[in-house]
Amino acid sequence: MEHLPVEVFIKRRRALMDSLPDKALLLVPSATLVTRSRDTEHPFRQDSDFWYLTGFNEPDALLVLMKGYEKSEQLLFNQPKDKLMETWTGIRLGQVAAVIQLGFDQAFALADIDQQLPKLLAEASEVWMPLEDEALYSRYLFWRQQVRTRFKRVASLPTRITDLSQQLGEMRLLKQPEEIILMKQAARISAEAHCRAMQVCKPSMYEYQLQAEIEYEFRMQGASGPSYSSIVGAGDNACVLHYVENSAVMQAGDLVLIDAGAEYQGYAGDITRTFPVNGTFSTPQQQLYNLVLKANELAISLTRPAATLDELHQAVVRCLVTGLVELGLLQGDVESLIETEAYKVFFMHGTSHWLGLDVHDVGLYRQEGKARPLQAGMVFTIEPGLYIAPDQADVDPQWRGIGIRIEDDVLVTATGCEVLTSGVPKTIAGIEALMKGDDYARH
Ligand code: GLY
Ligand code: MN
Ligand code: MN
Repeated sequence: MEHLPVEVFIKRRRALMDSLPDKALLLVPSATLVTRSRDTEHPFRQDSDFWYLTGFNEPDALLVLMKGYEKSEQLLFNQPKDKLMETWTGIRLGQVAAVIQLGFDQAFALADIDQQLPKLLAEASEVWMPLEDEALYSRYLFWRQQVRTRFKRVASLPTRITDLSQQLGEMRLLKQPEEIILMKQAARISAEAHCRAMQVCKPSMYEYQLQAEIEYEFRMQGASGPSYSSIVGAGDNACVLHYVENSAVMQAGDLVLIDAGAEYQGYAGDITRTFPVNGTFSTPQQQLYNLVLKANELAISLTRPAATLDELHQAVVRCLVTGLVELGLLQGDVESLIETEAYKVFFMHGTSHWLGLDVHDVGLYRQEGKARPLQAGMVFTIEPGLYIAPDQADVDPQWRGIGIRIEDDVLVTATGCEVLTSGVPKTIAGIEALMKGDDYARH
């Protein structure tokens, strides 16, 4: 498993500091453990911003960057070494090793924070931090108060506080080569897990058994687990967009929709495939499936620098509406069906979202009121779908209870895009061949 070298994180911290004015103090907190029930906790997942800047995977830490002080400094506050606690919850890096292994100028025990932070604040003219973090903000107000009481006449106080999330979001949106390697791994593992699900699926299995197969593959291949709650919905359940119960038995004749992705070194894969539980698409399933596939492939073909996600979405909508009219699921003229958004009963979500350390990754979608142009290094999903609810009135009963989504992860390149998730088939022929046991269908 490749780990990014410490130099990568040092370089990111420097680049972030370079983008800030002098005398800026920057605060980024780590995640903390979250209670699952009584005295047990959810598995720890580091805050994505903190991870991006430190590569440090412990809870209860604070990154502090000081720009253009007497000297610029990169500081870390983290848990101290504690033999007894480490016996229970695992090795802590501590302060000495944090300096050496993570490339900080200094590291302090977390308990020193209220002593140290007012001193640092007294020299800052502005502060950058994630503003939605209420706990950090109230701590900041406490430290400000401390500056007043402890340094009285000598100290001035920062006059400006700015939300760091947007600045960091723009950095994280453009993936660097070392991140692209990891995203390709996340996508490859996710694709292989979907192949596994297609290969083992058969009628009478439970949805959660397919989920187990998928997540087994994630872990076997070195991913930390799913990057979001896996969705396995067969039959009518495929029409529930965020169905995560995964508790039903799967019937021959139904489609099963799986939306699942691996998290690898913090990076998310995000794939949806929809396939027949018994390995063979029925005619109505084929017709709707090929329409969604056409929309997916159309959006991929339009992906290149300077295109926008809005354009891709509009092309997908036009393609789906045209097909729905041809199949008789919508009646009327394509333009007015688009205008009135009549298609939203069947396609009610967006086509794309940024992908990275978060599955719905950071980065602005619009700039100056307009959809932003795509640039090489951006990674996002293309995920058109059609969902004909089981109780949908005014449609031929043959369509009811069919839900289909086909989701790929794409990287914008200098000339077009690279589909990172091509390791799992999406054509009807490819899926049916893989389900029959033809391993060549994967390639
Ligand atoms: N799996 C979440 C999404 O596709 O957006
Ligand atoms: Mn997605
Ligand atoms: Mn998804």
